[in-house]
Amino acid sequence: MSKHDITLNVNGKKYELTVESNELLLNVLRERLYLTGSKYGCGIAECGACTILKDDESYFACMVPAVAADGWNITTVEGLADGDKLNPVQQAFIDNSAIQCGFCVPGMVVTSTALLRENPDPDEDFVKDYLRGNFCRCTGYVAMVKSVLDAAGKMKEAK
Ligand code: FES
Ligand code: FES
Repeated sequence: MSKHDITLNVNGKKYELTVESNELLLNVLRERLYLTGSKYGCGIAECGACTILKDDESYFACMVPAVAADGWNITTVEGLADGDKLNPVQQAFIDNSAIQCGFCVPGMVVTSTALLRENPDPDEDFVKDYLRGNFCRCTGYVAMVKSVLDAAGKMKEAK
């Protein structure tokens, strides 16, 4: 297996790493950088538990070879808060009790953050459609959709 030197910018911090050609970005984040917020659910782009941001765009980290992420500017769920202040989506998930077992929540929150950066004023159908790639096995979708709409409202008020 060949080895490659890559640089990742993750949550504002630069990492220089040597990775195997078959190593996945998700495994690098979890097992080498110890950022275990992104979850390994399906490994085949079906559940969204591993969602991260590249700049403002969401990606399934289980589908990205680490070598292909060389130079990426990545945000994981650990990088969404501003110090002790949760981001509006994180806070809304808590306020709306949108968390049951919690396994899907990092991916949901990261995808919802990408959603609101793309469309700060979404309607319910837009949110449901945007979150279609993120599965919740506890069937908590109603509170999650409400959380995203609430976060959008709070963000608008804060402007
Ligand atoms: S673990 Fe990546 S989409 Fe399920
Ligand atoms: S809260 Fe359990 S899988 Fe979503």
